[in-house]
Amino acid sequence: MPRVLMTSALPYANGPIHIGHIAGAYLPADIHARWRRSAGHDVLWVCGSDEHGAAITLRAKKDGVTPREIVDTYHEEMQAAFRSLDISFDHYSRTSSAKHHHVAQEFFLRLLEKGAFEVKTEAQFFDPEAQQFLADRYITGTCPKCEAPGAYGDQCEKCGSALSPTDLIDPKSTLSGASPVLKDTTLWYLPMDRHEGWLREYIEEGRLDGAPHHAASAWKAHVVGQCKSWIDGGLQARAMTRDLDWGVPVPVEGADGKVLYVWLDAPIGYITSTMEWCEANGQDWRAWWQSAEADLVHFIGKDNIVFHCLIFPILLKEHGGYNLPVNVPANAFMNLEGQKISTSRNWAVWVKDFLEEFPDRSEELRYVLASIMPEQKDSEFTWHDFRERVNNELADVLGNFVNRVLVLNRKFHESRVPEAGAFTAEDEAVLSALNAAPGRIGDFIERHRYRDALQEAMGVARLGNKYMTETEPWKVAKTDPARAATLLHVCTQITANLGILLAPFLPRTASKLAEAFGVAGLRWSDARADLVSAGAALGDLPILFAKVDAEWAEMMRARLEQPVERAVEPLKDTCTFDDFMKLDLRVGEVTACVPVPKAKKLLQLTIQTGLDERTVVSGIAEHFTPEEVVGRRVCVLVNLAPRKLRGVESQGMVLMASTADGGLRFVTPEEGTAAGDVIA
Ligand code: MF3
Ligand code: ZN
Repeated sequence: MPRVLMTSALPYANGPIHIGHIAGAYLPADIHARWRRSAGHDVLWVCGSDEHGAAITLRAKKDGVTPREIVDTYHEEMQAAFRSLDISFDHYSRTSSAKHHHVAQEFFLRLLEKGAFEVKTEAQFFDPEAQQFLADRYITGTCPKCEAPGAYGDQCEKCGSALSPTDLIDPKSTLSGASPVLKDTTLWYLPMDRHEGWLREYIEEGRLDGAPHHAASAWKAHVVGQCKSWIDGGLQARAMTRDLDWGVPVPVEGADGKVLYVWLDAPIGYITSTMEWCEANGQDWRAWWQSAEADLVHFIGKDNIVFHCLIFPILLKEHGGYNLPVNVPANAFMNLEGQKISTSRNWAVWVKDFLEEFPDRSEELRYVLASIMPEQKDSEFTWHDFRERVNNELADVLGNFVNRVLVLNRKFHESRVPEAGAFTAEDEAVLSALNAAPGRIGDFIERHRYRDALQEAMGVARLGNKYMTETEPWKVAKTDPARAATLLHVCTQITANLGILLAPFLPRTASKLAEAFGVAGLRWSDARADLVSAGAALGDLPILFAKVDAEWAEMMRARLEQPVERAVEPLKDTCTFDDFMKLDLRVGEVTACVPVPKAKKLLQLTIQTGLDERTVVSGIAEHFTPEEVVGRRVCVLVNLAPRKLRGVESQGMVLMASTADGGLRFVTPEEGTAAGDVIA
């Protein structure tokens, strides 16, 4: 019997859970776990709150409270959100517990003993005002890889590159806005380059230690692609400790004021969570992590790929004795009404808030999120689409079908499963499709194709609805009651099966169906075309899904537009009058514009400046097409030192304004100005 240890990314305890989180790492895992439990597999699904790292301490600072208060609040709040959506972790832990600190420290010591780290004393960025070393989210600057502004010291969220603080162009402290200074400190590095060989074999061929480990073809193409490009780009040493006072202390003499890097301690949280569950359930945790019988699967969002496919596997392998993941079915991102979901801009649907206001809509939310799950690429949630799916699919197909079956059985058969006569070829076709459904759905789920699995399960309802509409048992009943009974018998079998087959996706609906059709407690393998017997009593059900009206959908959409508090950029260091006078700004006119090959974000502009015609490369390609740029009057900084971007020399900079919605607009000189006019 398959034994599967499933993990879902430990969410940062620094804010509430939104639909993008759910669609990424939790709903797919929930469907997976529910299906495996129903199929009788040996499955354990662990998660917990990620309570360390700069995400937490920065949030605490912003709110003027302690990190402890932040994590306590959100640890509770996140669990409430998961519960409200029936996310059925077997165990939910947290990384600030004494138990986890101990487990993470032991793990670190073992790595130290095995020589997995290189200890280096090096100059690191330090904020002289805040008197603190700056790493991760404490420092931002321009990404050296994609030129996007606002990249963090450990990662650029735009292009996904892993960075070191010293890679950033024009770094600034996010604590004070100050330019950092360099100061020596000791750090424990993980030399990832040592591991390139086996990682390549593991990712590209699914082989580990010279033996087959998993089917490489079972991994999502975008996951393998991202890993390959990381490896191809050359793996670098990454610091595994931080100079901070919040986190798991580095368990080494003289390492006061140092903690484990959050991405070292957090995945070990999966292990702690497993240990806790095993202790409470009289099991040996090693049977999940260290047994060849057990498969490890990490459910995550795409921004976590490098940590789960490269870094954590290195740590597990260096430690020794642990299994490595057989799959990491990462999902892409879900956008909301045309924009990236953003916590800071409050552009999100918060699960807890939504379900507190609309407690009866949890199944609808699960349904829609599963239908548009970003399995291979980013997807888009809109309230208009939510309405259409609820009305056209849940209400009109599933709800309507179930309701008609119950009503007709009540009217003609005193709410009992009707007797079947001989089946026609048409009946047989429907029944054999029903027999095939559990295998087909399970197969899709096993391969992490949740959208297809849901389509397949809803296909059963669709099939029943269509069969009933076409055969019209209520009419046939007037002339041929025996035939009508057979038709209804087939329909009843279908609805009863839905009580099992919908359970991974729509647990509440499925359990209502299972109650009403007398199949509660049955398993995946029980689903089949002769599930219920003639004469069995049927229950009653209210209408399963209330339709959503257009006004409601519009209201939900309009709420998002409400002005949100804007994240204010910190004030930069003072600039003197002389500094300012150094800038030579002129009005220019764009005479030509082309994309820069192989650079998604860059456009190459030709600008008449009055002095000359020159080339300026600008990171605006995601906001403007070349056609929209040609002919514009713009403000240009003409004495900026030339710089090569993707092989093209840029001789200046065009002034742009960043808008609250994350957009960019040109700073356009007023009518009446012309190329060459000096700006001052
Ligand atoms: N907290 C991280 C995030 O939200 C995920 C941590 S996953 C773990 O992106 F493996 F580190 F636990
Ligand atoms: Zn980048």
